[in-house]
Amino acid sequence: LEKEAIEKIEKSTDMKELQSIKVDYLGKKGSLTGVLRGMGKLSKEERPVIGELANRVREAIATAIDEKNENLEHVALEEKLKSEAIDVTLPGRPVQTGGPHLLTKIVEEIEDLFISMGFEVREGPEVETDYFNFEALNLPKDHPARDMQDTFYITNELLLRTHTSPVQARTMQAYEDSKSVKMICPGKVYRRDTDDATHSHQFTQIEGLYVDKDVKMSDLKGVLDTFAKRLFGEDREIRLRPSFFPFTEPSVEMDISCKVCHGEGCSVCKRTGWIEILGAGMVHPNVLSMAGYDPKVYSGFAFGMGPERIAMLKYGINDIRQFYTNDVRFLKQFHNA
Ligand code: PHE
Repeated sequence: LEKEAIEKIEKSTDMKELQSIKVDYLGKKGSLTGVLRGMGKLSKEERPVIGELANRVREAIATAIDEKNENLEHVALEEKLKSEAIDVTLPGRPVQTGGPHLLTKIVEEIEDLFISMGFEVREGPEVETDYFNFEALNLPKDHPARDMQDTFYITNELLLRTHTSPVQARTMQAYEDSKSVKMICPGKVYRRDTDDATHSHQFTQIEGLYVDKDVKMSDLKGVLDTFAKRLFGEDREIRLRPSFFPFTEPSVEMDISCKVCHGEGCSVCKRTGWIEILGAGMVHPNVLSMAGYDPKVYSGFAFGMGPERIAMLKYGINDIRQFYTNDVRFLKQFHNA
């Protein structure tokens, strides 16, 4: 019995097997226990002899099981250590880093530029009232110029702003006491346009507004000239062309000079050598008075530009949708721009 048990113990390869051997021999119904139970039937002389023998065998089996158990535990631990080992000499995997979006960078660059000229950066709501988006800007309900901007209406009175100009009126109201405003406002705007290479139903604008006593058209020209030269280079010229916006009078469109080029890749710069980059003008007297400013005392200029367009010009990007489709191959090119 002893020999048979020891042999089995030796051969066993896992803890479960070992446990069942233990039950088979030493358990309540085990073979050795059976021997001990049968002792009652033995004679007085046989009992101590068999008893001693059975105890010795029990002892031997128990010891063998304990030893084997320890041994198996050790093997298991070794295996675990081996499988979990880390090769610290392997080269690491490079971490993919992100970076600010090109549009964010351009907006921040333009912000910094105007901050250096004393402008404050403000923000306004993207869901705007009809009053601020149109009416306060001299665009009454049935004004034909509302057609210039196709609009997403939410209710009769609420809409997604079509430009950042409502922030002009909002800021003038906020500065009612001092009546001295010098701010720019970047933000998203929305128009009911079909997306293509040059149109997007959502894009960005940066508004500018300077209102005080004695603000002149020449101040506008000086600020815009500084802006163009700092952003595109000292060799750039600007020119102002007459235009129309209901909220400015006179109104202008600003062109920036660019090298005349022909053929592929220079489609952004027209053959004339000038490219339009923003709308501007002197704040309309009606806009001033609606905001509570006396147009006989106060005057101001305003401008609005599209940073996407500016980035497209600066970096030769020919599709506005590139800004919104998040193709990493596109975005990555400007990480260090
Ligand atoms: N809001 C005008 C537009 O979206 C731009 C503009 C702003 C023109 C300020 C003049 C003054 O087209």
